[in-house]
Amino acid sequence: MRLHGKTAVITGGSMGIGFATAQRFAAEGARVAIMDWNRQALDEAVSVITAKGQEAIAISGDIQLREDVQHMVDSVLQQWGSIDIVVNNAGICEPASFLDIEEADWDRHMAINLKGTFLVGQLVAREMVKQGTRGSIINMSSVNGLAAEADQAHYNASKGGINLLTMSMALELAPYGIRVNSLCPGYIETRLTRAQIVNPEALAPYLRTIPLGRVGQPEEIADTALFMASDESRYMTGHCLVVDGGQLIKLS
Ligand SMILES: NC(=O)c1ccc[n+]([C@@H]2O[C@H](COP(=O)([O-])OP(=O)(O)OC[C@H]3O[C@@H](n4cnc5c(N)ncnc54)[C@H](O)[C@@H]3O)[C@@H](O)[C@H]2O)c1
Repeated sequence: MRLHGKTAVITGGSMGIGFATAQRFAAEGARVAIMDWNRQALDEAVSVITAKGQEAIAISGDIQLREDVQHMVDSVLQQWGSIDIVVNNAGICEPASFLDIEEADWDRHMAINLKGTFLVGQLVAREMVKQGTRGSIINMSSVNGLAAEADQAHYNASKGGINLLTMSMALELAPYGIRVNSLCPGYIETRLTRAQIVNPEALAPYLRTIPLGRVGQPEEIADTALFMASDESRYMTGHCLVVDGGQLIKLS
């Protein structure tokens, strides 16, 4: 078991990529704390994991609120004593054309995707430093953090910000042995993308942009997160790891 004895926090771990990651980590021996603001989905996700005899706890909260994040950190420390791994996964994406994005939409994407990642990263890293934990922090970015997609200016900017935040965190936390990397998925089948995926007409032009010719599955991102969380990636920090079926290498 590659994460035996480790404690992992996964934000937005009730569904989609986060839930697949929580299940993968728990199957590899980690104690998993899932933080999510969707209480019902959160409880269901935790029951799926604990029903298999694996360890998981639910922490209800909103990552854009410092007091909720501090409560999450305190709860995990009270339960398990330390935090070794964080997957900063919770995020939103509400498409709108650049000319139509409302200021409130911009602020919401920045507050959840970028500030939330900062808050969770900072409050957990302080604890890792205090305890001398040589941890691994994984920030969920996107191919949209490396190239622009139309109707996503606020999302693109928030994910681009996560990549630079990742490098900044990696630089300042390296002296403590804490590694920080970002994971940049391409087009993955989750609640965020399902409406388009089930509509063949909407999906076809998108598939033409992906050399491997299919959408990705949450489990394929969870497998990569496992590598990034484990000692197998022990010499990797400040890196943006792209998992996109080749989407970013294609010019036309
Ligand atoms: N699906 C994709 O194609 C894709 C591609 C690239 C990157 N991503 C990123 O992966 C991450 C997960 O995406 P997904 O597709 O699994 O989405 P999803 O909507 O299926 O899951 C997101 C989870 O985050 C939770 N969440 C959202 N805002 C929150 C907040 N403020 N506080 C606490 N919990 C919150 C939701 O309740 C949900 O459980 C996101 O950061 C997303 O930007 C997704």
